[in-house]
Amino acid sequence: MSDKLIIFDTTLRDGEQSPGASMTKDEKVRIAKILEKMRVDVIEAGFAIASQGDFEAVRAVAKAVKDSTVCSLARALDKDIDRAGEAIKNTNSARIHTFIATSDIHMQMKLRMTPDEVVSQAVRSVKRATKFTNNIEFSPEDAGRSDIDFLCRIIEAAIDAGATTINIPDTVGYNIPHQFGETMKELIERVPNSDKAIFSAHCHNDLGLAVSNSLSAVLNGARQIECTINGLGERAGNTSLEEVVMAVRTRQDIFGCDTNIDTKNILAASRLVSSITGFVVQPNKAIVGANAFAHEAGIHQDGILKHRETYEIMKAEDVGWHTNTLVMGKHSGRNAFKVRMSELGVEFDSDDEFNNAFSRFKALADKKHDIFDEDLQALVTEAQAEATEFIRLISLKVCTETGKENTANITLLIDGKEKSASAKTSGAVDATFNAILSLVDIEPILQLYSVTNVTQGTDSLGEVNVRLEYEGKIVNGQGVDTDIITSSAKAYVHALNKVMENVERAHPQI
Ligand code: KIV
Ligand code: ZN
Repeated sequence: MSDKLIIFDTTLRDGEQSPGASMTKDEKVRIAKILEKMRVDVIEAGFAIASQGDFEAVRAVAKAVKDSTVCSLARALDKDIDRAGEAIKNTNSARIHTFIATSDIHMQMKLRMTPDEVVSQAVRSVKRATKFTNNIEFSPEDAGRSDIDFLCRIIEAAIDAGATTINIPDTVGYNIPHQFGETMKELIERVPNSDKAIFSAHCHNDLGLAVSNSLSAVLNGARQIECTINGLGERAGNTSLEEVVMAVRTRQDIFGCDTNIDTKNILAASRLVSSITGFVVQPNKAIVGANAFAHEAGIHQDGILKHRETYEIMKAEDVGWHTNTLVMGKHSGRNAFKVRMSELGVEFDSDDEFNNAFSRFKALADKKHDIFDEDLQALVTEAQAEATEFIRLISLKVCTETGKENTANITLLIDGKEKSASAKTSGAVDATFNAILSLVDIEPILQLYSVTNVTQGTDSLGEVNVRLEYEGKIVNGQGVDTDIITSSAKAYVHALNKVMENVERAHPQI
């Protein structure tokens, strides 16, 4: 059996299906670039038929990425396959991932199809995908609750039709590690042509078992794991890339295989995804949480100082901690800035775009002495958000005094016209949001408001995340500034801009 474990990242597709985590084309390209730098084998860039925006995002990622395979999802429908094929054409290495549900409950209640119809639809779609690429993945959706005999039948037929990867999804996160591992083993043993395909695990985390289930699949013959950065994904999320990669790397004695991943980029990728989506990483999250390598208890510190391996099973620097040394300051020039941005995976399409980013950097360097990688990433996130704005923050003045009401005076540029308003309440952020709302015609519900420091120190950029719900649509907005009331206003305006985009997208699994 191969000792290479393929890492298939679906942050840009399954991760993005998480309500509020939708990303713009430029944001997807930035994440894809860091995944490529990390040496992810396959990047699932989106679901091309979902909307024109999704199609363009898959195309943009396919164009930007050279070293990883770029994949588009497609239901087992002719129109989906053709759209996916169109989106990934002209890519160095392309894959189409097609799926159809195979559990009784999904076939009867959702598809309203017989098992025979499902098999022929799967075969037809895999064959159709061969017109575009010979790298085809087939997934029997809800395999975790499907009949094993039926799975064997449909998988054999899909491989005969040309599928080169067979992905086994536990779509609803129902499986338990030993059971999921046994399913994988039984499928590989019983499907007569299983040697012609790579078997893959795709697990959801509803019972908190996505990583364990994926690893159990590897122990039983799977050689691809589908995962997302920070475990981003619908409901409780997907398998977390950083956790499976580090488990396999740390315990090669158990797994007998390894990935190609350059783990030093893990932290940067985690931070980028968190900042773009607004999904904050919990401090005690394995590998990428702020406390993941913090040894606070005195006894542990003593042990670590005497001999590191007493309490540490991995080195923090191997996943990107501590490599974030001071990079730039007030006197850094244009060239140093360009080189550092390129190292972070950010390329500029035009001189204007570069000049805009450089002047933001200079403005920040005037306010803040030490500029770190996270600051640079935050500046790019902000510039990208502003580029698509319908509403823009022009100015904000807030007066606060202990024991008195706070007043916010705001000026926005809305569809090219300057408009001003003020509001007074007991909180500065509340007054700012009320003033903004009085200038727009909609009343979204605020679902989440959070503030985090981008780096250490009181002069750190404060990053604010705002989640709004409007007419069933959930969006996240981010804003960064050294002043957190201004960050809050920027984040609120960013989210409002997304609400107003009003893009309709199809969900692949509905
Ligand atoms: O969870 C799932 O079943 C999926 C499929 C589309 C692979 O995401
Ligand atoms: Zn999924």
